[in-house]
Amino acid sequence: MLRPVVISSQDGAYFLFGGEKMKEQLISISAAAKTAVEACENEAQIEEVRVKYLGKKGELTAILKQMGGLSPEERPIMGQLVNQAKQELEALITDKKEILKQAARDEKLKAETIDITMPAKELKVGKLHPLNTVLDDMINIFQSMGFDVVDGPEVETDYYNFECLNVPADHPARDMQDTFYLADNILLRTQTSAAQIRTMENLKPPIRVICPGRVFRADEVDATHSPVFHQIEGLVVDKGVTMCDLKGVLEQFAHEIYGKDTKVKFRPSFFPFTEPSVEVDVTCSECAGKGCRVCKGSGWIEILGAGMVHPNVLRSCGIDPEEYSGFAFGIGLDRLTTTRYKISDIRLLFENDKRFLDQF
Ligand code: PHE
Repeated sequence: MLRPVVISSQDGAYFLFGGEKMKEQLISISAAAKTAVEACENEAQIEEVRVKYLGKKGELTAILKQMGGLSPEERPIMGQLVNQAKQELEALITDKKEILKQAARDEKLKAETIDITMPAKELKVGKLHPLNTVLDDMINIFQSMGFDVVDGPEVETDYYNFECLNVPADHPARDMQDTFYLADNILLRTQTSAAQIRTMENLKPPIRVICPGRVFRADEVDATHSPVFHQIEGLVVDKGVTMCDLKGVLEQFAHEIYGKDTKVKFRPSFFPFTEPSVEVDVTCSECAGKGCRVCKGSGWIEILGAGMVHPNVLRSCGIDPEEYSGFAFGIGLDRLTTTRYKISDIRLLFENDKRFLDQF
């Protein structure tokens, strides 16, 4: 490719000789470089080769430095040849680098192969306590009927827990055996009904609230009794509220929680703060009313107490019973939970045994 250079003087012979020699050198360096590139096995090696031939002190770069010894005619031709050789080598190195990179990647992937048949580690996710699951359902149902959720204190005064609720001083519920007294007039609330009074003191009718919470009674502990349990108090006060509204709301509630086919029975009962008062039973969800172990053969399960708010109670909260009327109910959350999940012992709800809780 090197064109014959015109020899114009004795110097010319030297230049031609110089050019030929450089050309040979270039060819042999290029060949050696190509062999070296081909022999590379990893990226570090190829980088070494690149520095050796193309680096600042590399062999091809060194040739360029000898160009000063060439004739002006030879110089551009030689320069072109060296550059061409450099470009070829650069391209070769880039290609080889890519091949080696790909090979390294394949190798790595092969080494990291995931065994998808291996069983995964079980991830433990926290869950709601069954009482909370049922409570959330109940709150949803009542909120959809327009009820607000309110809260009340667990440590109550005698006034809110009994007196204001029309419970006379000699009522058995006030007996020392049923109530945990903390001091003379301070006690652990025995019913969420105390929240009725606090609500009526703070809100003006129309009132539509539920108050879920813990209640306490000095009961002997067994499979169906616990000194701590849960109620959801409901209270509605407005003009013209009747027993029909009470029945409608509670029937709707029972159907939502137990299903449309559930029958609801209102039994006359007595509570000092409601008149008339009822207790509400629903057909046993386990046997659909036929009678089984869960309902103790009766086919019915009692789920709540309710009634029309007693005029004395309205009056003591500053609400005129001639103008307003209302109903209240108190649902037992624990019974609802044990029947829904077929839990045979109420104590399981409070012991927090992980083996029990993990089943929900
Ligand atoms: N507080 C009553 C109880 O604990 C239930 C109840 C609430 C009854 C509201 C009537 C009205 O048994």
